Amino acid sequence: MTNAARLIIVGCGHMGLAIVRGLLGVPPHRDIVVVETSAERRAVLSAYGGFTIASELEIAEGDFVVLAIPPQVFGAFADAQRHRFTPRTPVLSVMAGLTSRAIATALGTSEVVRAIPNTPSEVFEGMSVYFAEAAVSPRTIAQSDELLRAIGKAFRVGAEELVDDATAICGGGPAFVSYIVDAFCQFATSCGFTEAAGREMAVQVFGGTATLIAESGKPPMQLCREVMTPNGTTERGIAAFDAADLKKSVLAALTASALRSRELASMSAGVRVGETDG
Ligand SMILES: NC(=O)c1ccc[n+]([C@@H]2O[C@H](COP(=O)([O-])OP(=O)(O)OC[C@H]3O[C@@H](n4cnc5c(N)ncnc54)[C@H](OP(=O)(O)O)[C@@H]3O)[C@@H](O)[C@H]2O)c1
Repeated sequence: MTNAARLIIVGCGHMGLAIVRGLLGVPPHRDIVVVETSAERRAVLSAYGGFTIASELEIAEGDFVVLAIPPQVFGAFADAQRHRFTPRTPVLSVMAGLTSRAIATALGTSEVVRAIPNTPSEVFEGMSVYFAEAAVSPRTIAQSDELLRAIGKAFRVGAEELVDDATAICGGGPAFVSYIVDAFCQFATSCGFTEAAGREMAVQVFGGTATLIAESGKPPMQLCREVMTPNGTTERGIAAFDAADLKKSVLAALTASALRSRELASMSAGVRVGETDG
């Protein structure tokens, strides 16, 4: 991390750990401190090594703070910890549905970057989208960008509402994709494949197709049509998707998820942040 004394990750659950594990795997060496209130979780984290585990937050000059706690507890966190933040403490929030302004106001620092990463960060395949108000310093933006790029791809958006939409696409995306991969696995085992064989086929098909889409540069529907021989097996499968309106279902799921993020963001912007529930 660019000249930062320490990288402090507050909250080390699924997302916090994905970020830490991703960062531990790539140079440069970072002095990482994880602040975790759950004793049970601290015990789990101690098995990993490579970072310091603390139960109490302490912030020194130059430290960079990543907030990966649940949005519901942020209000109480801000009430208890606000005094540790200065108006220039750099903060990268990955909390879904909390606006950068609400976070800045609650903590008393104007240096807030709001990002939505995802759990593939753990294997350096993360996808993060982030927003920063114009007043945020180039240094904090560069530090956030560097951190997010260490664990995958990242880009900045100029309108904060797009982070809510990205919450559905990137944040929820791994869950949505896993849901569909599970259907492939279920089908494979129902045919008589072992669970391991079904998993291997499904994972390779999804990973291989993602690489093919990326490397060919072709539109996804072109790749779809290219393997649809008239009256063939793929065409029959796509016809079943269309009959079930699968694309409409996927769009409805993404829209519902993005709307929920906007709902949470507007609640956090207008009322005490601790009252959010999502
Ligand atoms: N999971 C994802 O794919 C994903 C994607 C994008 C963004 N996010 C965001 O990332 C954040 C964390 O999500 P998650 O899925 O990692 O949740 P999680 O697994 O529940 O992890 C949150 C961790 O923070 C701990 N914690 C709670 N209050 C704390 C405090 N005051 N100080 C330090 N630690 C505290 C929790 O301990 P207790 O269990 O004791 O409360 C828990 O271990 C959320 O804001 C979420 O919106 C998640």
